[in-house]
Amino acid sequence: MAYETLIVEKREDRIAVVTINRPKVLNALNATVIDELEKCFKELQADPDVGVVILTGAGEKAFVAGADITGLVELDPLDGKRFAEKGQAVFNLIENLGKPVIAAINGYALGGGCELAMACTIRIASEKAKLGQPEVNLGIIPGYGGTQRLPRLVGKGRAMELILTGRMVDAQEAYQMGLVNKVVPPDKLLDEAIEMAKTILSKGPLAVKFAMEAVNRGLEVSLEDGLKIEADLFGMCCATEDKVEGTKAFLEKRKPNFQGK
Ligand code: COA
Repeated sequence: MAYETLIVEKREDRIAVVTINRPKVLNALNATVIDELEKCFKELQADPDVGVVILTGAGEKAFVAGADITGLVELDPLDGKRFAEKGQAVFNLIENLGKPVIAAINGYALGGGCELAMACTIRIASEKAKLGQPEVNLGIIPGYGGTQRLPRLVGKGRAMELILTGRMVDAQEAYQMGLVNKVVPPDKLLDEAIEMAKTILSKGPLAVKFAMEAVNRGLEVSLEDGLKIEADLFGMCCATEDKVEGTKAFLEKRKPNFQGK
């Protein structure tokens, strides 16, 4: 499918690269981008030829510099609630896609951009990246999951500071606080994301899927219930041909040939 605001490259190696393409406004998220992200990720979710998605922004300057501020001016309370709910639903889709989504953060990831990166499974940042939740500067709060996912990633105190002051952090500080997984030179960003995607693609595909599900669902419940979820999914792994192949290959001292079955 062709998109107005996204470039989607499906590669031979089961990696899809999605680029948000509004560089003149630093890839700000307007209603079209949100709608197209929903369509695109639903399509990638259903596509058996895609195993990992990499999400990035067009141009040198930004991953995504936030929600498009021009669209915020006229929002009344009901519109505002719907606006937040729509973005949250699309970001939930990305978080629970059943396939890893790697954010390759090539520049500013602010407001909705930081929230979008946090909905991804793993975040790799260029040394030039800057992240933050500057919504209070506009008299609003994060509405696409920032008040919920940021404290889960970096802890309540740090999240409160970033959300209440609107302070931007550079890639190194983001790494130190656990907001990004890795920091790399700008010209290595996509290669690094592809390398990580390939590593994940070499593992048992159902194990990868169940592991993400165990972490995502487990974080929302008590430890006791989370452990039940883990045991159930561990049991599901034991019903797969991949588990037979993976354990057998180890004992036979060869590389496994996983089929995702
Ligand atoms: N929504 C709409 N337009 C945006 C935007 C956003 N979130 N972020 C940047 N833009 C536009 C700018 O208005 C500018 O457009 P113009 O060329 O027509 O004037 C263009 O993108 C380039 O941005 P500019 O501000 O000139 O770049 P800069 O290097 O001076 O500053 C930022 C970069 C990211 C610090 C600055 O653009 C910024 O603060 N953006 C808003 C971030 C924000 O508050 N996001 C949360 C929104 S809820």
